[in-house]
Amino acid sequence: MDHFLYRDGILHAEDVPLPEIAAAVGTPFYVYSTATLERHFRLFDEALGDTPHLVCFAIKSLSNLAVLKVLAGLGAGMDVVSGGEYLRAKAAGVPGDRIVFSGVGKTRAEIRLALEGGIRQFNVESEPELLAISEIASAMGVTAPIAIRVNPDVDAHTHEKIATGKSENKFGIPIARAHIVYALAAKLPGIAVKGVDVHIGSQLTELAPFEAAFLKVRTLTQALRADGHAIERLDLGGGLGIPYTRSNDAPPLPVEYVGVIKATLGDLGCEIEIEPGRLISGNAGLLVSSVIYLKEGEGRKFLILDAAMNDLVRPSMYGAWHDIVPVVEPAPGTPLAPCDVVGPVCETGDTFAKARALVPLAAGDLVAFRSAGAYGAVMASEYNSRPLVPEVLVHGDQFAVIRARPSFEEMLSRDTIPEWL
Ligand code: LLP
Repeated sequence: MDHFLYRDGILHAEDVPLPEIAAAVGTPFYVYSTATLERHFRLFDEALGDTPHLVCFAIKSLSNLAVLKVLAGLGAGMDVVSGGEYLRAKAAGVPGDRIVFSGVGKTRAEIRLALEGGIRQFNVESEPELLAISEIASAMGVTAPIAIRVNPDVDAHTHEKIATGKSENKFGIPIARAHIVYALAAKLPGIAVKGVDVHIGSQLTELAPFEAAFLKVRTLTQALRADGHAIERLDLGGGLGIPYTRSNDAPPLPVEYVGVIKATLGDLGCEIEIEPGRLISGNAGLLVSSVIYLKEGEGRKFLILDAAMNDLVRPSMYGAWHDIVPVVEPAPGTPLAPCDVVGPVCETGDTFAKARALVPLAAGDLVAFRSAGAYGAVMASEYNSRPLVPEVLVHGDQFAVIRARPSFEEMLSRDTIPEWL
């Protein structure tokens, strides 16, 4: 459920009509609903209930400071994968002991930054990384809390570019070798082993892969405890998928996902950490765009928008589907016609949808891409020298620009011309 509904024939973000934001900000823009962000965070938090837990929002899905502040205000932890994300979490007021640091390539500078500012745990993905953390923490005279990310070799049944839990993926330590790495960690100075970490992929639409991975984590936890390791936390990653269409085969709900966690791991007495990104932010955001032209092609119509692949790359990168809806609600029974929806970027890949059944639209009309809150603005670029798309946050009947569209001057001023030119 989200808070983007038609009211009096106009699509609203909470209580704000989208044309009002378009008039103030110009198009294209991202708009996020505070109520939806809060609701989705609470679905996890409340489902985990009495189980000791921390819901760490995966910042990579939507990293605007204002959004992080909304979630931090609800007690969210954060899952970060870079020094930049770590600093964002801190800037949003999240204490270090609520931040987990994931990723296969943490640099020494990033490790130092997190140790200086405080960290709940590093999710360690390799032996060289473990050695680096030990060396840096020891030199600083501190102890680094860690979990080891294991690769359970489970097929997540998702797009190959976002599956992470198969043995051929670059992530984690093969689960069969985990005991060796835990034994090493236990001996290293500056390291405090806290738990086990796993994340098998993103946009999972079935519970079975989670269950398979969690059962492997269960067996591993028992074996590690038998070897004398104090496993007190389990970080189960993110990955629960969202509905991208209004069809009936919606992915499982957070409460069902949490049911699997409790059934597989609930009796181990561990604190549970999860790292949802998309489920919290995905349906909390829209990308709003205007029609520039309608073009008649050879046997097809092109709807040319002012948003492009640089603003929302998911369709060209993963072949992802986003519902595209008119901001002015069509009259019931308005006939639909197939249309290719494209942006102005000079690549054929700059296509949002092919032969999409749409109501008739004209130049100047506003359309909204649904489910664009996650991996939308964060993956935007300035390709074709198109200024980064701005972001707007709605709260009830108020809205605020939370990242302004850069001016062309700002964009150009980032380049410098060497003196010899
Ligand atoms: N934890 C770790 C260690 C991750 O790598 C990810 C996502 C998450 C948590 C959050 O997963 P989520 O709950 O959002 O599924 N750009 C792609 C998705 C990449 C996901 C990367 N890792 C897309 O647009 O579909």
